[in-house]
Amino acid sequence: MWTAVILLLILTLTPARGFGQEEKGEKIYKQWCAQCHGYEGDGEGYTKDYTFPTPRDFTMGTYKFRSTPTGEPPTDQDIIRSIRNGNPGTTMPPWKRFSDEEVKALTEYIKNFAPDVFEYEPEPIKIQAPPFSEEMIKKGKEIFKKAKCVECHGLEGRGDGKKGWEENFKDDWGHRIYPRNYTYPWEMRNGSSVEDIYRTITTGFNGTPMTSYQDSLTDEQRWALAYFIKSLQLKRHLGISLILKRVDNIPEKTDDPLWDAVEYLDLPMGGQVIFEPRDFTPVISNVRVRGVYTDDRVAIMLEWVDKRPNRGDDGNPPDAIRIQFPEKIPEGVEKPYFFMGDDRHPVNLWWWKADGTVAEYTASGYEDLQAQETQNIKATANYSYGLYRVIFTRSLTTDDKNDIAFEPGRFIPFSVSAFDGREQEAGVKCAVSAWYYLMLEPPTPVKVYVMPPIVAIMVFGLGLVLHKRLSRQ
Ligand code: HEC
Ligand code: HEC
Repeated sequence: MWTAVILLLILTLTPARGFGQEEKGEKIYKQWCAQCHGYEGDGEGYTKDYTFPTPRDFTMGTYKFRSTPTGEPPTDQDIIRSIRNGNPGTTMPPWKRFSDEEVKALTEYIKNFAPDVFEYEPEPIKIQAPPFSEEMIKKGKEIFKKAKCVECHGLEGRGDGKKGWEENFKDDWGHRIYPRNYTYPWEMRNGSSVEDIYRTITTGFNGTPMTSYQDSLTDEQRWALAYFIKSLQLKRHLGISLILKRVDNIPEKTDDPLWDAVEYLDLPMGGQVIFEPRDFTPVISNVRVRGVYTDDRVAIMLEWVDKRPNRGDDGNPPDAIRIQFPEKIPEGVEKPYFFMGDDRHPVNLWWWKADGTVAEYTASGYEDLQAQETQNIKATANYSYGLYRVIFTRSLTTDDKNDIAFEPGRFIPFSVSAFDGREQEAGVKCAVSAWYYLMLEPPTPVKVYVMPPIVAIMVFGLGLVLHKRLSRQ
C-alpha cells in the first residue's frame, strides 16, 4: 500500500519538477534580480539611475566576468561565481540564500535573455598558479610599465592613469568607466585573489576597455603581473575605535615614516542620501584615519584615493575632506545627529579644501553652519598618484568655548565627510561615515583600560547599524 502511495507521489512530482526548473528560475529572478536587472533582463530596473556601475543588461549576452577567451560567452560556472560572490565594489550583492539548484535555475534563466550567444559552448582557460616569489613581484612591476597597464591604472596602481580621463572612455553599454584602483581589494569586482587577477588579465572584461592579454603576454608574464597587483593591495582595518599614540614630536610631513608605523582605522563611506541634493553614487568609498598626540597638540591624518585631483580651478568644486567632533565629549549615550549635528548637540568641523583653504566651523544642523571666530587648526596636504593625505593639527585645548577639548583616556566620537570635485560633490552632497571613536592613549597602557559600559553600549548598539551597512557596500 505504502509503496503504491510513494510511487504515485513520485509519478506526480517528477514531471512537475522537471517542468518547474524554468519557472523556478523565473520566479527567483523576478523576486530578487529584476528590480536591478529589469524584468526583461535589459538592465532597466528601478535602481538604474541610482547605481554606478549600472546593473548588467543581459540581452546583449556580453559578460565581463569570465574564464573564457575574449569575446566569448561565460561558462555556467562563471555566472554562478558572480551570483555567489557578487561583484565587490558594486551594488551586485553576493547571494548565499539560494540552493545550488536554485542558482543553476537562475543561470539558465538569465542565459535565455540572449539565447543565440549561448548556443556555443566555450572552453575555459586553465588556472594553475606558479609558486610565489619576490622575483615575480619585481618582474610584474616591470611588465606593468612595459605592457602599458600604467597608462590606465596609474604608476602606483590607483586607477589614476591619464587614459582613463579621455572623453570617450566608455563601456559598450555607453557608460563612463574608470580603471580600477588595485589598492582596494574589497572593490575587485572579479575577485581579489591571485587566481582571480590572473583570470581578469588573461580573459579581459568583454564590453570594456579592460582587454584580454592572453595573446600579447606570456603565461608567466601574466602570473607575474597578478602577483605584483596582489602586492599592492591594502589590508583594510575595520573597527569601531582608534588609539592615538603619544609621541615626542608631531610628524609634520605626510610621508613621515611614523605615519606608517602607527595604528589605523578604515572608515567605509556611503553617500549622504538624507538631504537634497542626495549622493547616490559616491566614489570615495574609504577613508583611512591615523593620529598621534604630544603634551600639547593632536594630529590626525586622513588618507583616501581620488583618481583625479580637482583644485577648484577646472570648473568643478575643489576636492575636500572634513572631520567632525561633538563640541563636548558626551557623558552619556547621546551623540550629535550624524550629519553636522543638531540644535542640542553642536559639532566642530575641520574642513580642508584642495583650493588651499582650511577652516574650522561649528554647526547645529546642516543649515546652521558657521565659521568660528578663532581659527585654531592647521592642515598639511599632499596628493600623489591618486592618493590624498591631509594632516590636521590643533592644540589639545583652546580658549574657544565652542571647541572640543581633547582629554587622554576618553572615547571621543568623530566622523568624516569626503568630497570629490569631479563628481560635483560640495555642500551637503558628499560621502559620509558613521560615528567612530578615537582615544588619546592614556599614560596607563590602554590594554588594561576597560571600556566604560556606557560607551560599550553606544559603540556596539547605535553605531553598529550604520557601520555594518556601510561595511557591506
Ligand atoms: C541591487 C542591484 C542588483 C541586484 C538586486 C542584482 N544585481 Fe546582478 N549586478 C548588479 C550590477 C550593478 C552589476 C554590474 C557589475 C559591473 O558592471 O561591474 C551586476 C552584475 C551581475 C552579473 C555579472 C555579469 C557579467 O558581466 O559578468 C550577474 C551574472 C548578475 N549580476 C546576476 C544577478 C542575479 C542572478 C541576481 C538576482 C539573484 C542579481 N544579479 C541581482 C546589480 C544587481
Ligand atoms: C585602456 C585602459 C586599460 C589598460 C591599458 C589596462 N586596463 Fe585594466 N582595467 C581598465 C578598466 C576600465 C577596468 C575596470 C573595468 C570595469 O570597471 O568593469 C580595469 C580593471 C582591471 C582589473 C580589476 C578587475 C576587477 O576585478 O575589478 C585588473 C586586475 C586589471 N584591470 C589589470 C590590468 C593589467 C595587468 C593591465 C596591463 C596588462 C591592464 N589592466 C591594462 C582599463 C585598462
